[in-house]
Amino acid sequence: MSVLVTGGAGYIGSHMVLALLDAGQDVCVIDNLTTGYRWAVPEQVSFIEADVGDKGAVRQVIERHDVDAMVHFAGSIVVPESVSDPLGYYHNNTVNSRSLIECCVETGVKNMIFSSTAAVYGTPAVSPVTEETPTDPISPYGASKLMTEWMLRDTAFAHDFNYVALRYFNVAGADPEGRSGQSNPAATHLLKALMRTALGISDHMKIFGRDYETRDGTCIRDYIHVSDLIGAHLAALSYLRDGGESGVFNCGYGHGCTVLEAIAAVERVLDQKINVVDADRRAGDPPELVSVADKARSVLGWTPKHDDLDVIVQTAYDWEKILNARVDAAE
Ligand SMILES: NC(=O)c1ccc[n+]([C@@H]2O[C@H](COP(=O)([O-])OP(=O)(O)OC[C@H]3O[C@@H](n4cnc5c(N)ncnc54)[C@H](O)[C@@H]3O)[C@@H](O)[C@H]2O)c1
Repeated sequence: MSVLVTGGAGYIGSHMVLALLDAGQDVCVIDNLTTGYRWAVPEQVSFIEADVGDKGAVRQVIERHDVDAMVHFAGSIVVPESVSDPLGYYHNNTVNSRSLIECCVETGVKNMIFSSTAAVYGTPAVSPVTEETPTDPISPYGASKLMTEWMLRDTAFAHDFNYVALRYFNVAGADPEGRSGQSNPAATHLLKALMRTALGISDHMKIFGRDYETRDGTCIRDYIHVSDLIGAHLAALSYLRDGGESGVFNCGYGHGCTVLEAIAAVERVLDQKINVVDADRRAGDPPELVSVADKARSVLGWTPKHDDLDVIVQTAYDWEKILNARVDAAE
């Protein structure tokens, strides 16, 4: 019995692989390395470099490794890019997810955990949002994920198949043991941009809009430490294997901070001034996205341990330094 992690060479997926190994589980990974790194997957893990849309490769892995659960992280994740390349996003996030779900049905894999996103809520009329808040994505990225949630729901209705879709809020931070972190230099996440600026890799970081209707004019997000997010996946895995019902769960801390508050936290924790410049709003960015995540706590038994912006900042910084030292050594 083993867990197949798609996108296991990426930021969040690599943390999942480490957590599964730490828990003594058998794990295998499929990743096409578009934004992931082969070195991010430990040597002892069976790694298949393939596209998740390649049904032959996926079936072979499932059968060879006696997979009973799939954790599906592989996808394209940049909201503004999805606005300029909607068909690319619908292909990689929706069409490829359909193919994976079909592989599960055909091969008898009964459990799937899916990386969904707070972007399915679009610009919600209320804040914070529960899982019952109407979904109305404002970007192809959010729509591509919501369509996958629908496919999962309908497949679970029709077949012997269960799923948990986790709607992540803003994932940040890095493995506290320094084994993985956000490694993609092109990643657009706020914390990543702040760390690169703090270390002088970037000259400045951009604030995308100061004219939102929020307490200081900048966007509010619910930042969740990646290790806590992985804790929710482990809880979901046990839940599904114990016969839990399919469902959708928010993953956040239930409180948010503005871009300016995040910058202030970084400046305080690192005791360093960050060079910022103002820029226009980005397409597809709602003013505020904060979760109510009570359902994951009560139904999955999830208990977050790192609900502290300082810990998020410190672990992200420590990882960026490790990464930077590696790049320096390679040059
Ligand atoms: N990072 C966040 O804040 C956030 C928030 C909400 C949801 N998510 C979701 O979490 C998942 C993981 O995100 P991440 O931040 O780790 O991104 P990432 O880009 O670091 O990881 C994605 C991984 O999937 C792989 N991949 C992409 N398309 C593939 C394909 N067709 N076949 C095989 N491998 C493929 C990439 O090479 C990469 O290793 C994504 O589905 C994303 O939509 C992330």
